[in-house]
Amino acid sequence: MVADTIIYNIKEIITPHRSLAHRGKEMRQLESVKDAFIAIRKGKIIDYGKGNHSKYLSDTTYLHDAHNCIVIPGLIDSHTHLVHGGSREHEFGKKIKGVPYLDILKQGGGILSTVEATRNSDFGTLFQKARKSLDEMLLLGVTTVEAKSGYGLNYETEVKQLEVAKKLNEIHPIDVISTYLGAHAVPTEYKDNKDEYINAVIKDMALIRNNDLAESVDVFCEDSVYNLEDTRKIVEAAKKLGFFVRLHADEIHPMGGLGLAVELNASSADHLIAASNEDIKKLSKSKTVANLLPSTSFYLNKDFANARKMIDEGCIVSLSSDYNPGSSPSENLQFSMQLGCNKMRLRPKEVLTAVTINPAYGLGLKEKVGSIAKGKNADIVIMDASNLEYIMYHFGVNHTKDVFKNGKLVVKDRQII
Ligand code: NIG
Ligand code: FE
Repeated sequence: MVADTIIYNIKEIITPHRSLAHRGKEMRQLESVKDAFIAIRKGKIIDYGKGNHSKYLSDTTYLHDAHNCIVIPGLIDSHTHLVHGGSREHEFGKKIKGVPYLDILKQGGGILSTVEATRNSDFGTLFQKARKSLDEMLLLGVTTVEAKSGYGLNYETEVKQLEVAKKLNEIHPIDVISTYLGAHAVPTEYKDNKDEYINAVIKDMALIRNNDLAESVDVFCEDSVYNLEDTRKIVEAAKKLGFFVRLHADEIHPMGGLGLAVELNASSADHLIAASNEDIKKLSKSKTVANLLPSTSFYLNKDFANARKMIDEGCIVSLSSDYNPGSSPSENLQFSMQLGCNKMRLRPKEVLTAVTINPAYGLGLKEKVGSIAKGKNADIVIMDASNLEYIMYHFGVNHTKDVFKNGKLVVKDRQII
């Protein structure tokens, strides 16, 4: 079979070796192929390996020189708040003085300030802003992104956010997977009537499902936001409608959100900074992914989730940026990876698994993306590095050189083409 594209002169391909969730020590078991090539046809990987690629060559094959760099699968950022209006530097002074994140929210700021900005932004403004963020992510080597709504807190604006994500998925090289996060905060107009708002969320969910605007539902399960009982009610309704479930769980206070996520078979439980050891035990026996967000710990000046314990106990761990305007205003997943090593004490190999096959599994995409394997989408990143460790060690810079999405060269020499 002839290839339409061949990437050659690869110093080393480093990839998870199976299209399955990798739990515990499996997260360190990567495949390495030195002096390699990758052959691509119609957007899929048809072969990869050591040595000679000539059997895949034709007159029209595009040959791409990897310049003796390492090659990894396209990165997957499985927790972002991509689409939102405005930014929150006006609250930065408070944050610097040490006003806690949830106190800013209680004063009507934080998430609620972004809700106001998002309600007041038209489709085009939200679209252009999110597109710029996606460009930034693509330049960093990210080829699949999960995007939550949650800054409308009314049907009209939540749908506006989800429609923006849908449009971006159509026009941007990055695949955008949407999550409905109507239960992100209690909107001001319902502040004395949370139960009524929860009922509205459940009602809106059905319409969102019917219009195919989101695959998952998320809840911010947190002290003074949605408690365990509220979360259970929303999640049970979501499951009946056929949604996958993701939870913001144990981000700030130990609420037992992780235990609930496991009990309800959530696809992922995210944050887990304050998760209990008992719930981590339950997690290790479950199929729920621990989706950890070290950039948020960094930015909120909080502890880091106990990723080492989670891996040592056999959990499935992924890492994401949590890109949002409040607790993690950065699109940079590579920074999260660097924090994963330096602050969470993960090994570089574990981190690579945590941003490729494990989030692919968490998003229900493990057969398509998350590793370099025959038949999978050719989502491939050439890193300007000669080994994996260097990417995690040399922090705060972008190591991505070239990016292929579905076999198409979309970033070359750090420029979107
Ligand atoms: O994952 N904590 C809830 N949601 C986001 C922050 C959203 C915001 O501050 O705008 C998070 O940390
Ligand atoms: Fe989040």
